[in-house]
Amino acid sequence: MRLAKYLASAGVASRRAAADIVRAGRVTVAGVVVTDPARDVDPEDRVELDGAPVDSRTERVVYALNKPAGVVSTARDPQGRPTVVSLIPASVRLYPVGRLDRDTTGLILLTNDGELAHRMTHPRFEVEKTYRVKVAPAPVRDAAVRALRAGVRLEDGLTAPARVRRLAPDTLEITLREGRKRQVRRMCELVGHPVRRLERVAFGPLSLGELKPGAFRRLGDAEVQALFSAAEGTRRCAGASSARPAPPPADRASPAARRSGGSR
Ligand code: URA
Repeated sequence: MRLAKYLASAGVASRRAAADIVRAGRVTVAGVVVTDPARDVDPEDRVELDGAPVDSRTERVVYALNKPAGVVSTARDPQGRPTVVSLIPASVRLYPVGRLDRDTTGLILLTNDGELAHRMTHPRFEVEKTYRVKVAPAPVRDAAVRALRAGVRLEDGLTAPARVRRLAPDTLEITLREGRKRQVRRMCELVGHPVRRLERVAFGPLSLGELKPGAFRRLGDAEVQALFSAAEGTRRCAGASSARPAPPPADRASPAARRSGGSR
């Protein structure tokens, strides 16, 4: 496994941030500084970050959170606003899987597995995201729905075809395989129906379900494997086939440790 991926899987950072950490010369393999993030390592190799051992067997934890409005989806906020990470009391360091705008509500995942976060959000894996979108004015014009389905030209390029269903005269369900910044808001604005309320109701195979705003739950092994499968099933890059998820640890954490997100 490549070193950056190994570090990401061990919960050190996202894969990209892990690559930067390696390039900065902070990582040793068997006592030797390695600055190439693509260097192959084996699970039994002794890997250290800043002199401290990195344990690739750290238990993976994944939470689903119903993000309330007004909460930012970064790990830390320099302006001191509440973050999605601060809503989940876990004993491991969690990262949000992708972003939702501050005013967007709904399903966001948090994990200590940078590799999972990478797969769920990298455009090449094309994992579906579904949004319930209230717009104005109502009713939404047929031409607007057709344009959203076919793709619209935003300043950063044409959007890929999307699935769009009318749920009510002022409400659409939009499913995208892309995740550009403020994409749904920009698409709807462009077709003349600015967004009044935006909620993510599904991410890959996982639905928001009955989670109330601010509530969260830890995903079970089958749900986590389904997330990996969603990314496997849609990937376009042939080279990604070696990146199968590690099987879940055989020794499951106790219910108490699971509730608190405890490791190992
Ligand atoms: N699209 C948006 O415009 N905002 C989000 O938060 C998510 C998708």
